[in-house]
Amino acid sequence: MNLISIADLSAEEISLVLDRADELKARRNDPKSRSILAGKSLATIFEKPSTRTRVSLEVAMTDLGGHALYLSSKDLQLGRGETIVDTARVLSRFVHGIAARVYHHSTVEELGRYAAVPVINSLSDVEHPCQILADLMTMRERFSRLEGLKVAWVGDGNNVCNSTILAAALMGMEMVVASPPGYGPNRKILDQADRLGGGTVVVTDPVKAVRGADVVETDTWVSMGDEAETAKRTAAFGRYQVNAGLLRHAKSDAIVLHCLPAHRGQEITDEVMDGPQSLILDQSENRLHSVKAVLEKLMV
Ligand code: CP
Ligand code: NVA
Repeated sequence: MNLISIADLSAEEISLVLDRADELKARRNDPKSRSILAGKSLATIFEKPSTRTRVSLEVAMTDLGGHALYLSSKDLQLGRGETIVDTARVLSRFVHGIAARVYHHSTVEELGRYAAVPVINSLSDVEHPCQILADLMTMRERFSRLEGLKVAWVGDGNNVCNSTILAAALMGMEMVVASPPGYGPNRKILDQADRLGGGTVVVTDPVKAVRGADVVETDTWVSMGDEAETAKRTAAFGRYQVNAGLLRHAKSDAIVLHCLPAHRGQEITDEVMDGPQSLILDQSENRLHSVKAVLEKLMV
């Protein structure tokens, strides 16, 4: 199976992946983990930069006894025009799994269609499923449940937001998104969430979104690939900052999440990011444990 969208997993599968991630986190140094993917290789294709995704995939493969190859798309023949189809078919003869961070979601979908081995979306312009598994793991660690939590997304209706919307629908969470007009989440994703029983609320007022929230989440105003719109976006998002004033409208025990990298002083203040309600570093660490559970599910 592939993990291209978070909705490729059912609610039950997500819960099992999170259970396993908790176990792997608790037993990080267990030498038995080294046999889980012994002798297996994962090709990791990157069209865009990465810190957390690259490091979590590489360390996860090492910890599970396997091996990861970092393949920048610039250095692959893909960068000289070799097709996705041929790349998918050829890599499938060498490795046991492919992870890809791409500009266009259709690229990772095409890889998934033609590869004979599992394909993992390591971020596209539409979704970031591996991130959302770490986010859910972090929420569960704090609240011991997902169902019924209110998640407020403040800012750009981007790839991370889209996957959060789908995950919320699957896991029975209430999801409210506050974005400036024109920067709301993808219509198709909202419709898909509705079909999954989600019913995402989209508003323009960040206070309305955050009111009574258990989880307040944000991300950059300028995602990779949107750089040409930096000035326009910075102007549009000015009042969508997660700061102490906004956070006061959430529940008093609300947590703050950010997938990182953060632009401190823009979408989030230092005070909130480094404050007592921030679980951002746990969230980042959980990328490692949750992706191990994904690799095990897909590659064993
Ligand atoms: N959150 C995340 O995916 O970070 P990177 O871009 O550093 O991989
Ligand atoms: N929305 C951000 C996430 C980075 C991990 C981007 O796509 O650049």
